[in-house]
Amino acid sequence: MAKQEDVFKTIVAHAKEYGFVFQSSEIYDGLSAVYDYGQNGVELKNNIKRYWWEAMTMLNDNIVGIDSAIFMHPTIWKASGHVDAFNDPLIDNKDSKKRYRADVLIEDEIAKFDEKINKEVAKAAKRFGESFDEAMFRQTNPRVLEHARKRDELHTRFAEAMNANDLNELKQIILDYEIVDPISGTRNWTDVRQFNLMFKTEMGSTADGAMEVYLRPETAQGIFVNYLNVQKTGRMRIPFGIAQIGKAFRNEIVARQFIFRMREFEQMEMQFFVRPGEELKWFDHWRQTRLRWHKVLGLGDEKYRYHDHEKLAHYANAATDIEFQMPFGFKEVEGIHSRTNFDLSQHEKFSGKKIQYFDPELNESYVPYVIETSIGVDRMFLSVLCSCYEAQDLGNGDSRVVLHFPAPIAPVKCAVLPLVKKDGLPEKAREIQHRLRFDFTCQYDEKDSIGKRYRRQDAIGTPYCITVDHQTLEDNTVTLRERDSMEQRRVSVDELEKILGDVVSLNSLLKKLI
Ligand code: GAP
Repeated sequence: MAKQEDVFKTIVAHAKEYGFVFQSSEIYDGLSAVYDYGQNGVELKNNIKRYWWEAMTMLNDNIVGIDSAIFMHPTIWKASGHVDAFNDPLIDNKDSKKRYRADVLIEDEIAKFDEKINKEVAKAAKRFGESFDEAMFRQTNPRVLEHARKRDELHTRFAEAMNANDLNELKQIILDYEIVDPISGTRNWTDVRQFNLMFKTEMGSTADGAMEVYLRPETAQGIFVNYLNVQKTGRMRIPFGIAQIGKAFRNEIVARQFIFRMREFEQMEMQFFVRPGEELKWFDHWRQTRLRWHKVLGLGDEKYRYHDHEKLAHYANAATDIEFQMPFGFKEVEGIHSRTNFDLSQHEKFSGKKIQYFDPELNESYVPYVIETSIGVDRMFLSVLCSCYEAQDLGNGDSRVVLHFPAPIAPVKCAVLPLVKKDGLPEKAREIQHRLRFDFTCQYDEKDSIGKRYRRQDAIGTPYCITVDHQTLEDNTVTLRERDSMEQRRVSVDELEKILGDVVSLNSLLKKLI
């Protein structure tokens, strides 16, 4: 097994052991691709959401937030195209009775060529040692070139089939490349069919004729159908944006990689309404602004890259993903799309209501164009968790697991620890905790040795530990231990609010954004 896979498994286990993420309904053997956030997970998640919300609504005069309902009129999903086109191509294996996404089976096959190339590179690197020129090897080695040629050939065929929505060709690729079911090991496949990803339920009593409604697959439509309400009541002038954080639901066929692809997840979406013709200028603005928001967190600039879409959805005239380097490769965390006036025009058509904006400067009415920024909270959570996890060897047989969370989003900001459980130290520590708890999430811990308590806080990413000892009773000073450096210094209790506040407040991040 690849090393990165092991690391990922360890991170998933750590997330459970330390109260970040639990499998949903675990005592009933779990519910696939549904997860619960534990006591530390919810704090981290809330802090990520606050960072996004405040960056959007507090730092921009022209962006306001809403919270629309999950249930919406079913015609909304007809208008948006989700009823007809929000599909994945699925295929069943007749022997294992398991269902797969045909495109994912083929993508995995494409990835195998890259694995073969990487193996060749690793072998050669071992053989040639220091003198190995990897770039040259990749450009000239016949075996590497042959694998790359086959990969590109399959990729082109696959992309053409997907773009043409050619389900027969997708099946033919699976047959031609002799892709087997990982469970049964057979090639006994059904035809490829389209599968709509929206969950349905019923509203109202069936006797009266219940209405079939959907659990929203994105939060964006709640913004579109409210855009005029917000514009009018908030006296907003174009360009302006509406931000929303909320749950979305998709009946994903292939649920993999922990919280990366879930059936119930959370999105942070912002629709920015602009004049027709100005959308590409604003697309560029949001493309850069959003990457900056990510980078300010300090997880490592090299872990991000843009993936500009060459093939665009019919309603979009520009699209980019921001990808993050997860242990399983670069993956989409956020999408920035220039969606033209497609959604609003569709809602105008399907509702029969005029939803145009009167532009006082141009003295004309029009349907605004929209730039969308859409980021998954859970994927953001996963990128933070994976990039902050470190199993650190401290030498002399000592080690620790530490989560290097950016301090402003750490679940717990400080822990107050009496050195011993006697001599009035617990009372003094409690007093300090009560003082700090109004400004910071603050834990109190008196159990086990001080070393063990430091390790427990490292494992949940607490930036500061405050140790109360006998000297504290004499001069009102404490030992302040910093998580990453493990450095300890003596500071006055009266200084704590200021020292912590400067580092752990969300403002320290927000100020870097402007
Ligand atoms: N309104 C546009 C929209 O929903 P999307 O690319 O389908 O676009 C946006 O989703 C973001 O939502 C993704 O970049 C990803 O972070 C997150 N997301 C989508 N499907 C997800 C899933 N099944 N599980 C977790 N996050 C998901």
